[in-house]
Amino acid sequence: MMNGQKEDRLRAVRSQLPGVQIVMGDLADTSSLVSVLQQVQPDEIYNLGAISFVALSFSQPELTANITGLGPLRLLESIRILGMEKQVKFYQASSSEMFGEVRESPQRETTPFNPRSPYAASKAFAHQVVVNYREAYGIFASCGILFNHEGPHRGLEFVTRKITNGVARIKLGLQSELRLGNLEARRDWGFAGDYVQAMWLMLQKENADDYVIATGITKSVREFVETAFSCVGINDGIERYVQYDSRFSRPSEVNLLVGDYGKAKKELGWEPSVHFKELVGMMVENDLRILHSQI
Ligand code: GDD
Repeated sequence: MMNGQKEDRLRAVRSQLPGVQIVMGDLADTSSLVSVLQQVQPDEIYNLGAISFVALSFSQPELTANITGLGPLRLLESIRILGMEKQVKFYQASSSEMFGEVRESPQRETTPFNPRSPYAASKAFAHQVVVNYREAYGIFASCGILFNHEGPHRGLEFVTRKITNGVARIKLGLQSELRLGNLEARRDWGFAGDYVQAMWLMLQKENADDYVIATGITKSVREFVETAFSCVGINDGIERYVQYDSRFSRPSEVNLLVGDYGKAKKELGWEPSVHFKELVGMMVENDLRILHSQI
């Protein structure tokens, strides 16, 4: 199941990788998953499919539970139905949102989950199911507990891209304000490209396991906005352009996330290569480039 924006992004990827084929399946429909697996006979499955926008999960909790929570279960059941348990390796995109109102900092693989949204509760269910299928049926199934990962392909509904797009538009005189919710929430923001590398490394290991993927550094939404404005030479952007809008606040918020990627460093040899300022700069530059090409 894909909305238009996601479909466009997938097609953009395909145009950069001519060998890639798109085969349609639906995480709500086991028979379609069985048929895709039968057709493709994969060695590795990366399940990044989800209702991934936390805010949406409050207005469509049942849909979120069905796709984000039950979708991975259906994929694992499809593997079993086809008797592919020893043939495929499975990656599940688990989320730092599962830590919710955090019980310890920094968060690591052993930190208890305390979800604060239907999205996070669904991801926690999926995570536990993957662990169970690994233990019960011996499927090579690993979970990457990924902290926020950003980049030029990020959807405009997420705060980082909303900010970089808004700042670029303000710089070019196309927009006069940036309406945001909670500026004080803190996230551990890394570069999506680095995190994809970590996913792949997990499936190249001899044994399946779960890994936190993060940068170990936490920044507030406010700091992200300030950094984005400073990239275009505006130093008082928050005072001049940012308006609080309660529509973008959540019924329950995750206030602080910061991950400990020590296990991934030790066992996968993985480390983040792009740091916060560079990430923000890359995203602002990308939005300026896109807007310039449209003017
Ligand atoms: N989207 C959005 N829009 N968020 C806002 C806004 C706004 O206008 N204003 C403030 N925020 C705050 C949110 O309340 C949240 O605390 C923070 O910005 C980040 O929100 P998102 O960018 O929507 O991401 P997320 O942290 O909720 O979830 C992302 O990261 C997770 C990994 O931890 C998503 O990619 C999830 O799918 C992923 O699992």
